[in-house]
Amino acid sequence: MFETISTAPPDAILGLNEAFQQDQRPEKINLSVGVYRDDSGETPILQCVRAAEQKWLAEQSSKSYLGIEGLTAYRRFVVQLLFGEAVNREHLAVLQTPGGTGGVRLAAEFVATQFAGSRVFVSNPTWANHHAIFNAAGLATVPYRYVNQNRTGLDFAGLCDDLDSQTIPGDAVLLHACCHNPTGVDPTPQQWQQLGELLARRRLLPILDFAYQGFGAGLEEDAEGLRTVLRHCPELLVCSSFSKNFGLYGERVGAMTLVAADQASATACMSQLKCLVRANYSNPPQHGAALVTTIAGDPELSAQWRLELAEMRQRIRHMRQQFVDQMAASGVDRDFSFLLQQRGMFSFSGLNPLQVDRLRSEHAVYIVGSGRINVAGMTAENLPRLCQAVAAVLADA
Ligand code: LMR
Repeated sequence: MFETISTAPPDAILGLNEAFQQDQRPEKINLSVGVYRDDSGETPILQCVRAAEQKWLAEQSSKSYLGIEGLTAYRRFVVQLLFGEAVNREHLAVLQTPGGTGGVRLAAEFVATQFAGSRVFVSNPTWANHHAIFNAAGLATVPYRYVNQNRTGLDFAGLCDDLDSQTIPGDAVLLHACCHNPTGVDPTPQQWQQLGELLARRRLLPILDFAYQGFGAGLEEDAEGLRTVLRHCPELLVCSSFSKNFGLYGERVGAMTLVAADQASATACMSQLKCLVRANYSNPPQHGAALVTTIAGDPELSAQWRLELAEMRQRIRHMRQQFVDQMAASGVDRDFSFLLQQRGMFSFSGLNPLQVDRLRSEHAVYIVGSGRINVAGMTAENLPRLCQAVAAVLADA
């Protein structure tokens, strides 16, 4: 039977990371997959996580299954981070999921099974895996305009026009709550306001993908878009992740939070969500969520976490500035200062697919085919070579 199976193409992001691992050139630079690196190029285990791990190791009493919905204290912390006090806790169904990706898949399956025929509007561009996840759940994805013509800022008029003219009530709209992946371009607070009004007026279901809380302006500031949408839309879904802000990538720690308009609906939705989880991965893994919960419940570790998160955010900002300055000094006639307006790990470099290929083949610099750069992969050491490589492929264009 298996002889008939054809080979699938490598994943646009993780496939590139595999190719990077196999590249033998010592000078190689990895700006592909969205993981944070410190200035020595390592993806560190946060100090607070190391301490929590020690504590948890001593305290852990069982490795039995968690409930289908995951750890209660963990889910409480998820809600606190997402909404602060701005939500009625009785209107929520919160489930711990295997990473943010697991959360998006759960949201997709919920929409597909409960609202057959709904389409999901996604920004153009969006994280490549969004299409794959929604399509795998049986939902059609429809792109809405997102970036302006030179791909450096938001085409807010185009975005509103598409959502206004192409959606029907009951369609879902996927929004990146902050640090848009892959562009780093986010709506302003006023634009979030308008977006909330539009979603409510068109009776659309917002799905907020919130993978980078704390990487933009700060934990509270980054939640403002979500909280604004909530003020307009009493029903929405949030898929969140602790991969980046706790550096817990491989532990797969995420959540799917459903906000309902009343308690009875939330209870019914929770029962359906639990059926979906049970038929998929049964119940979530314990370790990463236990670490997050240990940190959240310990004032000292919590304070340390906020500090370490701020350090990661500040380093990324610093590297943005360094890249812009060094590109300007290199004499290329392209102005990269738009990177300073963008937020989070990613930016669109504006490089075309040919230039991206040349960066990889001639300079051992790996960035995603769309031209997305993981700014968090830049270091003081690799920056001069990176800028030379970008300048070289631009010069020959
Ligand atoms: C990325 O966009 O690089 C990250 O979210 C990692 C992934 O799973 O693609």
